[in-house]
Amino acid sequence: MLECLPSIEKFIREGRYVADDVSARCFSGIFLRDIKPGEELRIEELYPSPDPYRVYGSPLELLTRGWPTPLLKVGEAPREAWAKLEWYNPFSRSIKDRTTYALVRSISGDRLVEVSSGNVAIALSVLGALLGKKVKIYLPSAARYVEPALDVLGVEHEVLDVTMTVEALEHIKSDVAKGAVHTNQFENDANFLVHIRTAVEIDWQLSSKGIRPSYVIAGLGTSGHSAALGFYFGVKYGARLIGVQPSDWIPGLRRTESGMKWIKYVPAEVVDVSFEEALEGVKALARKHGVLAGLSSGAAYYEYLRRKAEGVYLMVFPDDLFKYLPLLGRT
Ligand SMILES: Cc1ncc(COP(=O)(O)O)c(C=O)c1O
Repeated sequence: MLECLPSIEKFIREGRYVADDVSARCFSGIFLRDIKPGEELRIEELYPSPDPYRVYGSPLELLTRGWPTPLLKVGEAPREAWAKLEWYNPFSRSIKDRTTYALVRSISGDRLVEVSSGNVAIALSVLGALLGKKVKIYLPSAARYVEPALDVLGVEHEVLDVTMTVEALEHIKSDVAKGAVHTNQFENDANFLVHIRTAVEIDWQLSSKGIRPSYVIAGLGTSGHSAALGFYFGVKYGARLIGVQPSDWIPGLRRTESGMKWIKYVPAEVVDVSFEEALEGVKALARKHGVLAGLSSGAAYYEYLRRKAEGVYLMVFPDDLFKYLPLLGRT
């Protein structure tokens, strides 16, 4: 990955780049097509081209031509805030549709295996079916609430008696030994690279209003989307990344000391938010802005609310609340 960063940095600064032997692989992950050495790349190619009528000939087109997902203003100057609503992705109704699409494109093999806290499990089940690949999913016990969705999708899955997704990694070894390919959201650089594209999309949206972010607030899971957005907006506008980790438990998030690949490449301030605080963020968002966002979104918003510094805050809201309702009880 490190070998990709100088060329991506130059591409972000200048808006174009001529791919060489090393960077062609990196740019293939960003452009979601095979890039050949010597090809001249332009940032404009990454701008969304939505169908104004919203008519789609296939589910894959629904995904890629459904972009951009909306950006919603959720805070006024002098602490202006914008949230990227990633539950507008169609399959897992989360940011993980983008990640998983990139992971699947980056590897060959007809049998795929992955461990997931929920959203990748759903996205991979859908994308596997669409692309004719057999999928097996391992879930940590805390992600049991997505099992009914996996049953509907008819995908092979197993719930493990572990609390963290990374602890489940051990279990896939036997599948890999039998020829399955691990999509590996934790280590596969396609995860980071595709979110450089997400960052271009957001930049394109904010630019339409003449806005540049001074801070990016995002939850840390694999660190794929937070690190890529932090890298892009850091290079382009000097924005600072604030990574949110759970002080106890927040679905989809984990702590940096549990091992996290891409956050190491980007200067970031890492902050703790608890489940209760994330839920407070969810309630404030619902009551003030009308969106029922998921708990990791609530965690990012909670962190924004407690910040004092003026500037423009960009947040990512990875998914909505509905799949977590069974966890909440009455609040
Ligand atoms: C709901 C939710 N929020 C945030 C994240 C973290 O995203 P990333 O893995 O890109 O760090 C995840 C990852 O699974 C997630 O499911």
